[in-house]
Amino acid sequence: MMGMKSDIRLIDDNGLRIDGRLPNQLRPIKMEVGVVKRADGSAYIEWGGNKIIAAVYGPREAYPKHVQESDRAIVRARYNMAAFSVDERKRPGPDRRSVELSKVISEALTSAIFVEKFPRTAIDVYIEVLQADAGTRVAGITVASLALADAGIPMRDLIVGCAAGKVDDVVVLDLNKEEDNFGQADVPMAILPRTGEIALLQMDGDLTYDELTNAMEMAMDAAKKIYNMEIETLKAKYGGDVNEQ
Ligand code: CDP
Repeated sequence: MMGMKSDIRLIDDNGLRIDGRLPNQLRPIKMEVGVVKRADGSAYIEWGGNKIIAAVYGPREAYPKHVQESDRAIVRARYNMAAFSVDERKRPGPDRRSVELSKVISEALTSAIFVEKFPRTAIDVYIEVLQADAGTRVAGITVASLALADAGIPMRDLIVGCAAGKVDDVVVLDLNKEEDNFGQADVPMAILPRTGEIALLQMDGDLTYDELTNAMEMAMDAAKKIYNMEIETLKAKYGGDVNEQ
């Protein structure tokens, strides 16, 4: 649980963070699409110490039948952490956290997809965290968005995840593991950058109204950068026009 200020110093005398970043600086990000041959669409992301694969299947007839919606597709994201993805071996299989993350990620992705075009179908999105270092839900949303685009699923916009928060009383972008563990607040967000729409907003810890506004603005600016990386990644595979689906 966040909220307490810890004894560990997370910002040095020069205002730099423990990994040398400025408060509003992202960790390095690398993306690739089309990494899983059997999937309809797939993508891979390295974001700081996170390594995550997403694979998309569908739209295909939803099964079991009672889950079908007559006027739209259902989006079923499954967030899963590999046993070897964290310091202490994670017990395989769904736990409370991954069930919650699967749900919020499904909802965030649904808001970007033209689900009404595919009644009675399911779009399955598998998010496999191979290595975790904080921010996996937002990195997972980002890589899932690329995999959906790679599958040719029509979306109102690509979706970008990004977190901001507070450490040592300073509002910072994109917390790493130490900052997540010993910081005061973490605010994961998912954004549709073209409209500025927010598809996910959670908050762990305490922020004042001004700090929250500041954190959201930081995440919004960063989302535009990450969005451009997504577009470039898709262009590298598909050429132009990826923005005009
Ligand atoms: O990953 P995210 O920040 O979206 O979610 P979190 O629940 O705030 O988890 C933060 C980090 O804690 C994860 O990214 C992992 O590095 C770590 N973690 C872990 O070590 N063991 C778990 N069972 C769950 C999370």
